[in-house]
Amino acid sequence: MPSDEPFALIIFGASGDLTKRKLVPALWSLFQGRVLPEPFVILGVARSEMSDEDFRRRMREAVGEFARVQPPAAHVWERFASSLFYCPGDPADAALYDRLGARLRQLETDKGTGGNRLFYCSTPPSLYPAIVTRMGASGLQREGNGWTRVIIEKPFGRDVSSARELNRIVSRVFTEDQVYRIDHYLGKETVQNLLVFRFANGIFEPLWNRNHVNHVQITVAESLGVEGRGAYYEEAGALRDMIQNHILQLLCLVAMEPPVSFDADPVRDEKTKVLRAIRPIPPDGVDEVAVRGQYGPGFLEAHRVPGYRAEKGVAPDSRAETFAALKLFIDNWRWAGVPFYLRTGKRLPKRASEIAIQFWGTPHLLFRRPDPADRIDPNLLVVRIQPDEGIALTFGAKLPGPEINIRPVTMDFRYGASFGAEPPEAYERLLLDAIHGDATLYARSDWVDAAWQVLTPVLEAWGAGPAPKFPNYEAGTWGPAEADAFVERDGRRWHRP
Ligand code: BG6
Repeated sequence: MPSDEPFALIIFGASGDLTKRKLVPALWSLFQGRVLPEPFVILGVARSEMSDEDFRRRMREAVGEFARVQPPAAHVWERFASSLFYCPGDPADAALYDRLGARLRQLETDKGTGGNRLFYCSTPPSLYPAIVTRMGASGLQREGNGWTRVIIEKPFGRDVSSARELNRIVSRVFTEDQVYRIDHYLGKETVQNLLVFRFANGIFEPLWNRNHVNHVQITVAESLGVEGRGAYYEEAGALRDMIQNHILQLLCLVAMEPPVSFDADPVRDEKTKVLRAIRPIPPDGVDEVAVRGQYGPGFLEAHRVPGYRAEKGVAPDSRAETFAALKLFIDNWRWAGVPFYLRTGKRLPKRASEIAIQFWGTPHLLFRRPDPADRIDPNLLVVRIQPDEGIALTFGAKLPGPEINIRPVTMDFRYGASFGAEPPEAYERLLLDAIHGDATLYARSDWVDAAWQVLTPVLEAWGAGPAPKFPNYEAGTWGPAEADAFVERDGRRWHRP
């Protein structure tokens, strides 16, 4: 990575959770790893009254609690902290932006960062239009002595029309190549490795199609509940929170054609093509391809946990889904007829995200089985996104003994064992990419639009209609019984991570 790109990062929403849990710890890890370009300025903006010193103190605590690497010595932290600044102000208030501009110019002169500016919208999404419009009105978006880019946190809209409206507002102020729509799943090492696995190896790609793949399952299971984000989650639900972004991104990486090069537009072109090939869900057929659930009270690791409706900020008769499963088809040459089953949920028995590629069985059974129910499992490839990151291929092997008895065994690649190091945090990679102007791992506007279009019939059907019979699964279980029935109808089962 070139390290000669001084920059200023301006974080709107600097007193919020993301700044403390992810952004500043990631910047700190990059600094420690000597890959953060220098000099730099990190300027936090939020409504809370705070001095630079207060902000530095807060960030020191945050790094202590959340960073992957801890400060080895006080003077190293001091060097990092001397580039942290804070500017109090309401992002909705037009008067803030002149003040912010003046402060920024001063810091750029003092620190010698030139004019490279990366803005980060990490406020509640309702403020994004105001931030972008006001930046435009005050000329902060202009590229003078350097570049200007803006990172926009998810959620990008809450349906097709609000996403389009936000895109319209953003594109009045910024050109598309200045806009970085973040999806932190794309920064995960294991997710990036999916492309390497597919396109840097010769033996898998020839099998990666309808002739060899029976179906694909993508599971993003969380054992956590809504963790104090009840008010946000009430508006979002699992479909908007996880499927519209993270899970559809995973699906695109699994299903896309090889791009002509590993550059932002060729990669993003191929991903958008996947979404455009997804068979539209008929509005009157949503129940056949989608299942939703909401957890009630239950047990997790022997501890009693409350139901979703008892969480702070959640309505006692909430309709928000905390579990969603979908079956999608990609109507193209490669994937015709191969179902992609997607599911995600809160308060499932464990945190486990994985992609399971189920291959077809052999065309003919050479080894006769005494019991016809005793089937030979077809090959299964499981990409473990997190935790226990790795890739496992399961195949049949002969059980030692005089008879031919076949048992599934696994070839397992584990990141930890192979590379001996902890993978970096997703935000580290993504922040660095934005600083270097590489948007390959960011979502383009047409992708976001197409992702909302895929889900529109489900969002509409779930938003209207009678209230669902919630809660319909106990915390600590694998979701509602309908989710199992839904794949069993197709003669399949969910893979248990
Ligand atoms: C966020 C969602 O985008 O992703 C959260 O808003 C979810 O609800 C989180 O918990 C999961 O991220 P990770 O990296 O912990 O899998």
